[in-house]
Amino acid sequence: MKKSITLKSGLQLEIRIPNVEDAQPVLNFIDIISSESDNLTFGPGEFGISLEKEKNYFSHLKENKDNIFVIGLIDGEIVCVSDMSTGKRKRMRHAGEIHISVQKKYWNHGIGRTVLSELIKWGKEIRKLRKIDLQVKEGNDPAIHLYISLGFQEEGRISRGYQIDGKFYTLICMGLEL
Ligand SMILES: CC(C)(COP(=O)(O)OP(=O)(O)OC[C@H]1O[C@@H](n2cnc3c(N)ncnc32)[C@H](O)[C@@H]1OP(=O)(O)O)[C@@H](O)C(=O)NCCC(=O)NCCS
Repeated sequence: MKKSITLKSGLQLEIRIPNVEDAQPVLNFIDIISSESDNLTFGPGEFGISLEKEKNYFSHLKENKDNIFVIGLIDGEIVCVSDMSTGKRKRMRHAGEIHISVQKKYWNHGIGRTVLSELIKWGKEIRKLRKIDLQVKEGNDPAIHLYISLGFQEEGRISRGYQIDGKFYTLICMGLEL
């Protein structure tokens, strides 16, 4: 996948699958976003993937027909990372799970909507998925609003899904039937 899309604000967003050379910039991006919200499964310094591991993962991305991992760039800077992994076994191969993060200074420009729409299209048309799932922390209103507007519905809740500094947070399970 490689696309260039003009956002509603006029910014030009490039969406593509990363190369091995993107591994360090992606880790730098993850460092930034990990301290910008409490809505991810990791905080600052908690991502736990080495440069070597990231490079190795990226070196096989383009031949990976089951999962998709994309970066969004504005003027060459990574502003979004998103991926969808799908089930390996026959009974689970129809479903995928989506994740997304956008750098805070670019929130509300339509990047999340644009990138998720591309991944949903990939899931539906290329990978022939019949279901996409995700989990979102209760209170993450921009994300929940975005998911609902893309057709996702709430399917259940996991109590104590997150624990941050001794406080528990509920996770909302959302799904999109294709
Ligand atoms: C959630 C996230 C990916 C959205 O990315 P984004 O590029 O800002 O998304 P968009 O601009 O496409 O859409 C945001 C929508 O939320 C809406 N929104 C913003 N603040 C909101 C709020 N407090 N309550 C409800 N909706 C809100 C915007 O109006 C927009 O909706 P619209 O297109 O109908 O106007 C981004 O905020 C993010 O990375 N957050 C931190 C990490 C995270 O939470 N990831 C998701 C984990 S499940």
